[in-house]
Amino acid sequence: MSVDFVKLKRTYDLYATEYEQAVLRTMKSGWYILGTELDDFENKYAEYMGSKYCIGVNSGLDALILAVRALGIGSGDEVIVPANTYIASVLSITENGATPVFVEPDEYFCLDADKIEAAITEKTKAILPVHLYGQACEMRKICAIAEKYNLYVIEDCAQSHDATINGQKAGTFGTIGCFSFYPTKPMGALGDAGALLTDDEKIAKKLKALRNYGSAKKYINDIAGVNSRMDEVQAAILKVSMKHLKEGNEYRNWIARKYRKGIYNPFVKLPECREESYHVYHVFALLCEKRDALQKHLLKLGVKTLIHYPIPPHLQQCYGYLNHMNGEFPISETYALQELSLPIYAGMPEEDVDFVIEAVNSFEGE
Ligand SMILES: Cc1ncc(COP(=O)(O)O)c(C=O)c1O
Repeated sequence: MSVDFVKLKRTYDLYATEYEQAVLRTMKSGWYILGTELDDFENKYAEYMGSKYCIGVNSGLDALILAVRALGIGSGDEVIVPANTYIASVLSITENGATPVFVEPDEYFCLDADKIEAAITEKTKAILPVHLYGQACEMRKICAIAEKYNLYVIEDCAQSHDATINGQKAGTFGTIGCFSFYPTKPMGALGDAGALLTDDEKIAKKLKALRNYGSAKKYINDIAGVNSRMDEVQAAILKVSMKHLKEGNEYRNWIARKYRKGIYNPFVKLPECREESYHVYHVFALLCEKRDALQKHLLKLGVKTLIHYPIPPHLQQCYGYLNHMNGEFPISETYALQELSLPIYAGMPEEDVDFVIEAVNSFEGE
């Protein structure tokens, strides 16, 4: 038996006809950049999420970079970011010349709201919470701190489409919500794509210009921007993915419930989920002190797993200039040593889920 970590062809096959119709419609339209498909997607996604404005871009990383830029954050400024995030969250800060200030996560793998205030200085301009693995951070607390210190909040929602906390969707709490539609994400494109949500008209206008060379009017450039436009084909595809987002999230929740019920290995700690939150399980993250041995054991049985993420950003070579040390963020460093992600995706066969459960339970700590 072989169990893939993810098999996108299975997810695609669930809605193949709709995807194919969307692509053909767009190809036959003769209009491929900044057209009606993107306009329609932006309107529909904003409405679906309960935001005033949506701006489609090339990727989740671009969404984050442009969010930081649109808020005027740059050299000499600091942005608070979780120490256990994917590198892209941090790159958005450093790409703008600003400095990331790392804060440890809580037991839910999210930025620990109780540790933020100690990291605020007079240079702090924003808090960048990451709804990691598909579970929303404690946004009420984070937004209250931001208000107290007059800071922006940029939400990294790359893994958390339709996740909620206290009944509100991740990405609608802060100044700007940033989304990735990388194909494996809860709401995936069939290529690279990303988007930003905001309720602020001025920021929305600036973001629309920034993604298109800084030009709001053709050949007039009041600001310097980039080329980061979501193309028409991906916009058309994303309207299909958006229609089925709830089903995908529910299916992964069903797998997560099966994992929780079936896995009883004493070497394994299952992920914590906040009662007041709807987790969308982009990643089902276990903790295991013998993680590498568990991963080897599972692979021997044919179960592929991943580690999200083996090296925290503060210890990556590219951030050597920040002079962080091993041991400085012990919770994040422990997660990097102990985290293991089990297969979980829309279209995953039930027998694969059962096989994973048995395989995890058969680990004896070797
Ligand atoms: C937390 C997080 N932020 C940002 C990104 C960047 O998204 P993209 O791959 O679309 O650039 C990712 C992608 O993996 C991510 O997981």
